Amino acid sequence: MTATFPDLHMPPRLLAPGGTPTDLRTHEDRYGPVPQAAADDILRLVAESGLTGRGGAAFPVHRKLLSVAAAGHRTGRTPVVIANGAEGEPASRKDRTLLRLSPHLVLDGIQLAAAATGAGEAHLALEEGAPDLESALTHRRDPVPVKVVRLPGRFLSGQSSALARYVGGGAALPAYHNPPIRERGVHRAPTLVQNVETLAHLALIARYGPDWFRTAGAQAQPGSALCTIHMPGHEPHVVEAPFGTPLHRLMPLHGTSAVLLGGYHGTWLPTPEAASRTLDATTMGAGVLMGLPTDRCGLKETAGILRYLASQSAGQCGPCLNGLPRISAAFTTLAEPGPQGSTRTDVARWSGLVEGRGACHHPDGTVRLVRSALTTFAPELDAHARGFCTEDH
Ligand SMILES: Cc1cc2nc3c(=O)[nH]c(=O)nc-3n(C[C@H](O)[C@H](O)[C@H](O)COP(=O)(O)O)c2cc1C
Ligand code: SF4
Repeated sequence: MTATFPDLHMPPRLLAPGGTPTDLRTHEDRYGPVPQAAADDILRLVAESGLTGRGGAAFPVHRKLLSVAAAGHRTGRTPVVIANGAEGEPASRKDRTLLRLSPHLVLDGIQLAAAATGAGEAHLALEEGAPDLESALTHRRDPVPVKVVRLPGRFLSGQSSALARYVGGGAALPAYHNPPIRERGVHRAPTLVQNVETLAHLALIARYGPDWFRTAGAQAQPGSALCTIHMPGHEPHVVEAPFGTPLHRLMPLHGTSAVLLGGYHGTWLPTPEAASRTLDATTMGAGVLMGLPTDRCGLKETAGILRYLASQSAGQCGPCLNGLPRISAAFTTLAEPGPQGSTRTDVARWSGLVEGRGACHHPDGTVRLVRSALTTFAPELDAHARGFCTEDH
């Protein structure tokens, strides 16, 4: 896997030039020390920058920082920061690439998020990789202590309430949270969970300001994002691109019949539609783009992903326990050529029944994938019903 940058008329911001990991001395030579700023100043810079989260939901960062800081003042409990480097999405490589190449940008961002919220401790949560992070931390003199937390390797480990539970000594499983963890999370303290890429952007905004940040991207969606690109016949690679970049400039679309945008909780688009789309914070999820080769069956691909997603459910809520295995099994039937009976309508109906009914968004993300597959691969479904499949030709 390599970290490359296509010809997008923008130098990479987050990924170290030349694909070489950046040690602390090089980092400080390049960027200078972490700016010392008051909480209100950091909050203002973030609000003006328009930075949104890069962990999948594109939530405005300043709103989350503000609510954690406010909950800290209201409750008298010192907030906790969790940097989310779990990267549980199997098709994503961007967070581990960022942590390998530019760990100190993430660690700077953690300190700035802690200063903005008044946090007294921070945790950097990772599934695997980044073995040098502990040593990167020992070279720094940070005011807020940061602990590296190694998570169990599961799709759900990176969900925010699962992280808060795990850091607090419990299982890495999502939980119903009322009030939300930004008000009462780790050891009942207000808890900020922010994706590692989001924190790295914060480290640059604090240095160069919101106007600089907005020189990339679109007015409504400023800045750039890391994307993991899967092209047929190539190793996945990570690129950094401004929002608004046409998808066809991020990856060549010839030789593909569809593109999975956003990863396993994402959306299938037929290639002609993908060719007309741009990189958009609200649809890119965690930044995965995966091209489906023309000789592969999208229904079989989707069935494989659904089996994985159903197997990853924590089995705590009805929709996941009953609904996802049932949807997955039915989809496996649709993926094989042959009579379909009522399976197609069953899958659509069950999708409606599980949506919005879990303690976390795992069922919702799964349903998003299912619905897009039923639409994008409708011609393939018809062919299967007649006993034919793309892969058989
Ligand atoms: C099932 C599930 C898995 C998730 N996995 C991750 C993950 O691996 N990494 C991540 O940053 N966010 C993940 N998220 C999103 C987090 O819950 C949270 O919204 C995010 O870390 C917040 O950071 P951001 O606002 O900077 O994006 C996941 C969400 C769900 C529902
Ligand atoms: S919705 Fe599913 S994955 Fe989420 S907490 Fe409930 S059982 Fe677990």
